[in-house]
Amino acid sequence: VSDTSRYSRFFFVDSILWALVLLLLATYAAHAQDAGFHNTLMPQPATLTVGSGSLPITSALSLTLNGGKNPLLLDAAARMLRRLEAETAVPLQKNLQAANAVIDVKVEDASATRPAFGIDESYTLDSDSSRVLIHAKTIFGAIYAFETLLQLVEPQGDDFVIPAVHIADAPRFPWRGLLLDPGRHFLSVDEILRTLDGMAAVKLNVLHWHLTEDQGFRIESLRYPKLHQLGSEGQYYTQQQVREIVRYAAARGIRVMPEFDIPGHSTTWFIGYPELASQPGPYEVSHANGVHDAAMNPAREETYRFLDNFFGEMTALFPDEFIHIGGDESNGKHWMANPEIVRFMKEHNLPDTKALQAYFNHRVEPLLKKHNRQMVGWDEILHADLSPDVVVQNWHGIEFLIDGARQGHRGLLSQPFYLDHAYSAGQMYAADPLPAGAGLSDAEAKLILGGEACMWGELVSNENIDSRIWPRSAAVAERFWSPVATRDVEDMYRRLAVMSLRLDALGVTHLSGPQRGLRQIAGSLEGASALEQLQAVLQPVDFHPRQLLQHTSALTPLVRFVDYAQFDPLMQDHLRVLVEEYLHGANATQHTTAGQQLRSIFESWIAVAPALEQLVRNRPLMHEMRTRCEQLPQLGRLGMEAIDDIEAHRVPQPASVKDGQALLAQSEQSSGFTDFVVLPQLKTLVDAAEKP
Ligand code: ACM
Repeated sequence: VSDTSRYSRFFFVDSILWALVLLLLATYAAHAQDAGFHNTLMPQPATLTVGSGSLPITSALSLTLNGGKNPLLLDAAARMLRRLEAETAVPLQKNLQAANAVIDVKVEDASATRPAFGIDESYTLDSDSSRVLIHAKTIFGAIYAFETLLQLVEPQGDDFVIPAVHIADAPRFPWRGLLLDPGRHFLSVDEILRTLDGMAAVKLNVLHWHLTEDQGFRIESLRYPKLHQLGSEGQYYTQQQVREIVRYAAARGIRVMPEFDIPGHSTTWFIGYPELASQPGPYEVSHANGVHDAAMNPAREETYRFLDNFFGEMTALFPDEFIHIGGDESNGKHWMANPEIVRFMKEHNLPDTKALQAYFNHRVEPLLKKHNRQMVGWDEILHADLSPDVVVQNWHGIEFLIDGARQGHRGLLSQPFYLDHAYSAGQMYAADPLPAGAGLSDAEAKLILGGEACMWGELVSNENIDSRIWPRSAAVAERFWSPVATRDVEDMYRRLAVMSLRLDALGVTHLSGPQRGLRQIAGSLEGASALEQLQAVLQPVDFHPRQLLQHTSALTPLVRFVDYAQFDPLMQDHLRVLVEEYLHGANATQHTTAGQQLRSIFESWIAVAPALEQLVRNRPLMHEMRTRCEQLPQLGRLGMEAIDDIEAHRVPQPASVKDGQALLAQSEQSSGFTDFVVLPQLKTLVDAAEKP
């Protein structure tokens, strides 16, 4: 017997064994769908290795802060334990110094009590079947680790468990912001606080607070009280409230950067202090949306003295190193209409209003520096004379960000992260502050600090604003935090659906706010549940069409159906996945299951027809939704027929093909200030039925 044949025999036995092993592994993997680790983390960590086993959450679970500690860390740990209890119903020990604790938190240096720009945010988290070890350089890394730990919790049988993982995490970008604009519509302190909770959950770390606008001056000034007294219609944040918000944010690792928009967007400064303006006035709070002509007078020394005093007062409230001076949409009309300003431009060799604005910025920046603050402005401020220390926030297109970096400016990307527009989570996710092929050197690339999602306030109220911010901002947050290679849109949407419910648990009202609104429109619980079917498949028309269609102003009540519809409702992606699985599923089971789910969705659209008819008849705010209420059941029937045809291998009649196409075309027209988000998915299904 030769060696070779012996080997062959071994190989033969080997391959049978291997087949068995593979079979077992496959069976195990199928079960592991239930028992193993399901990655629903958002944002995705920089690195993640899955171990074996998991730690059950029982009342024996305990925590110790084993390294540096300070009151912020103690609060954060206690908060984490309360949230863990709320999710699992397991009563937990609140002692944060337990001996032989299960969760061991070691912070190297707990001296920082506010999240300064560029502070170390990294952490590691190691879990196995008996312990969780968290290690961070600063308390802010540990606070992020707590968020990750809460997201790791998953059900297993009768228990909740923390699966065994090794995570080493740190953000890709140091600046991950969200802009809130109470200037256009005032936002309550509660609204700001719950937004901070949501931001912390997805590791956003800058609240950009747009505090002054043509429509409202929203912060109390003791030095210049006519600013808020005459400029806010009584709706402003007291200095006490500002301190509370800044403290609440810092406890969650979030910096607060105020924006005082100058020289434009400044009408409300001039009501009490008309001497700051470029035209005599008188001025009043504006309720109009859009660009205003009012502008600060850059030709008077008194303007800079005023700003110096004002910034001095504000820096005592806002410890952050950065102050945003706006600088956007300054149209120069009031400047050119003022002969003194025109003369000033000639004397100073300022050929146009762009140069005058550059002069203004050149005067304002040293005032901020004097108060140890760095200046941030919108991309209109880019100019050859702009100090290289100024951070430029891009909203006109990434090319301005890239140009700014080439000119040596640090920059932030905010386009296409405008939450008042109809960008889907997927579109926002696809954008990148540092896109491949930007052609920047390593040094220039380092100047790109990150970006911000922007929640402009023209069309939002305390009741619906959360539904514009969330869950899309979680996708943006992942873009800013996670490695550049984290780009799988389908996987993002899968996790976004989970994240949306986590935000709901935190008290964010993106689901409950609109649900309450729909109850008011419907006037009954049954009616509201019918409206939720409609809400799931519609989104508001985009910002500019809405302005054109409705001529909205700051006085427009935001209580129509459109105000409770969301951009990119999750049904859009859900239906896309189902149609894909139904038509091109990996196997017969996937095809059948997806088909059943599609039928049940279409059936629900058909079944809701009588309730919608009744609402259109009886509820005034439903009149403008008549067309949509008629179309939804028709679209349900169209989807159902397509599936019937596909299953029967039947070519549809030409007349019914024509009717279907007409329905889809009509449904594409905006109505009730809304657009359907499910038409491409229906088209795909109908096309498949027509080409069997
Ligand atoms: C802006 O959107 N005007 C910055």
